[in-house]
Amino acid sequence: MKITGFIFDLDGVIVDTAKYHYLAWRNLANDLGFEFTETQNELFKGVSRKRCLEILLDIGKIDASQAQFDRWMVEKNEDYLKYIEKMNASEILPDVIRVLEFLKERNIPVALGSASKNARPILEKVELLRYFDDIVDGNNVTKAKPDPEVFLIAADKLGVLPENCVVFEDAVAGIQAANAARMISIGIGDKNILNEANYNFKGFTEMNEAFLKTLLK
Ligand code: BG6
Ligand code: MG
Repeated sequence: MKITGFIFDLDGVIVDTAKYHYLAWRNLANDLGFEFTETQNELFKGVSRKRCLEILLDIGKIDASQAQFDRWMVEKNEDYLKYIEKMNASEILPDVIRVLEFLKERNIPVALGSASKNARPILEKVELLRYFDDIVDGNNVTKAKPDPEVFLIAADKLGVLPENCVVFEDAVAGIQAANAARMISIGIGDKNILNEANYNFKGFTEMNEAFLKTLLK
C-alpha cells in the first residue's frame, strides 16, 4: 500500500502569525519613516526574512549598508518574538487539530515545511509539537520557496516519495514549491490568489473527512 505523507506550512496555515509579522515589519518601516500597508504585507507571505527586508527597503527606497541590514533583521525578529511570546493554543486556526488528529489516529507521517526560523518555538507555544514527526524550517534550507527544497527535505525525512505527499499552504510561493516538488498542493485561503493549487479550501473547516480519505487512496 502507498504511504501518504502530509506536510503543513506553519504561518497562515496552522496559526495566523502573518498579523504579527506584519506588525513587526510595520514598526520597522515606521521607525525608518515610511508606511507599510497590509496589502503590501501579502508579498511577504511564504518569503524568507532576508527577502522580506529587501522588499521592505525597496518600498521605503532605503539604501542600507550590510551592517545596517543585519541590524534591522535582528530588530524585526526581536520585535516579532515579543508577539510570539504571548501566543498559546487558542491561536491555532479552526479545525487544524481535527485534521492533525485524523492523521495521528491513522499513523500517517506528518512534517512541518516552513520558511520560518521561529517554527519550533511557535509549535511549542501552541502545544502542537507532538503531532509532527519531522520539522523542516528556515534553519534547514538554502533555497527559499518557490524552490521545492523545504518540501523535498521533508518528504525525505518522512521516508515518503514526493509524489505521495500532500502539502497545505497559504502562500503562492508555497503552492509553487509544492507543485515543483510534484506533490499534491492544497491551497488554504483565497482560491483566486492560490489558483495554481491542485485543491482549494478557505480553511480546514471546509475540509471534511471524506476528502481527507480520498487523499489516502
Ligand atoms: C514564513 C512567513 O512562514 O516565514 C513569512 O510566511 C516569513 O512571512 C518567513 O517572513 C520567515 O519567518 P521568520 O520567523 O524566520 O522571520
Ligand atoms: Mg504560510
